[in-house]
Amino acid sequence: MPTLADKRILLGVSGGIAAYKSADLVRRLQDQGADVHVVMTAGAREFVRPLTFQALSGNPVHTDLLDPSAEAAMGHIELAKWADVILIAPASASVMARLAGGMADDLLTTLCLATEAPVLLAPAMNQAMWRNKATQANAQTLRSRDITLLGPDAGSQACGDVGPGRMLEPLAIVDGLIDFLRPAQILAGKKVAITAGPTREALDPVRYLSNHSSGKMGFAIAAAAARAGAEVTLIAGPVRLETPADVTRVDVVSTSDMLAAAEQAADDCDLFIAAAAVVDFRPAVVADQKIKKEDGNDRDVLSLVKNPDIVATIAGRRDRRPFVVGFAAETENVIEHAKLKLARKNLDMIVANDVSAPEGGFNSDHNQVTVIDHSGEQTLPAALKTELAAELIARIANKAFSGN
Ligand code: C5P
Repeated sequence: MPTLADKRILLGVSGGIAAYKSADLVRRLQDQGADVHVVMTAGAREFVRPLTFQALSGNPVHTDLLDPSAEAAMGHIELAKWADVILIAPASASVMARLAGGMADDLLTTLCLATEAPVLLAPAMNQAMWRNKATQANAQTLRSRDITLLGPDAGSQACGDVGPGRMLEPLAIVDGLIDFLRPAQILAGKKVAITAGPTREALDPVRYLSNHSSGKMGFAIAAAAARAGAEVTLIAGPVRLETPADVTRVDVVSTSDMLAAAEQAADDCDLFIAAAAVVDFRPAVVADQKIKKEDGNDRDVLSLVKNPDIVATIAGRRDRRPFVVGFAAETENVIEHAKLKLARKNLDMIVANDVSAPEGGFNSDHNQVTVIDHSGEQTLPAALKTELAAELIARIANKAFSGN
């Protein structure tokens, strides 16, 4: 998966000759999977036409704060909320001064004040302007407000001067942004095993019992754990999902296959997360041949036996017991049922979700969950499964490994 996949980047372009390089920057950000909206200052529009950025980004370019038609399409507050990150490249001395002064005198500065997203600047200006005490003081002020400066570079400048103030090359800006967004390596050195997806129990050579689990939540958790620095084994039932980057995948079909893979992974892991929707019962006998409906098979065709509980088996270990997290998909009395499961299965933490809610559940990309452990419970805001996964990994790591 590209590093900036699904990231919504608001690229602010201010006045400076380096603005032409920002056209390439749009492409480089898109190469990493980002969705880019461009905001141009009046100065930037003297150097490059908005149409260039519109064509490259595939989105309308935003220029005016008080343009009713633009506001009707995506208002400035909406745009500020849309962004996961605001990147200003080039950031002129004037933009830096206005941001340091807390001004909101055009669309870009207003967005920077209105957003809760992180703001990064790639300064670009003449070397004397960069060195000027006013600019240096502004840079200091901006850093103290958690605005990140990427560059500037030093070298020959468009005006013929040589010195600091060149904008970083687009690829270096993208690298800086990726580094900035890289999650803290809170699971560095930890081994994590995760079950995901459904299991499948054969009735005969052509039929099986299973469920609607998509595996999305478990795969998102595996991806988030890997991004947090863990060595991840993902034990996946039959699902149509790509293996996340830096994750070792073990494909299984039946519950007993999943149990065997889980036991093996748990022998050498620090954290076990059971996100699979395991089939609770399997046929007592798997027929060698297709079960026929003609043979007087009118009722009681199947006899089922209970499957082993994978997460309870791992949590019940005396030796080599990892920190164990389960999931509870419920349709009523969600918290109450989840708490009972936490105790009955001897888990350290359980993630409860209401699968009957319109947003969330099996096949949705969204989910809303409550995290419960032995010291309390907390309901997290509804979010994309990918975002939720990162939040869950942060909470699990905190609980499991830092004693909080
Ligand atoms: O009991 P229930 O299926 O609701 O419990 C859900 C939790 O238990 C999930 O974490 C699921 O992955 C795990 N589980 C399991 N083995 C089973 C049944 C459920 O690991 N046989």
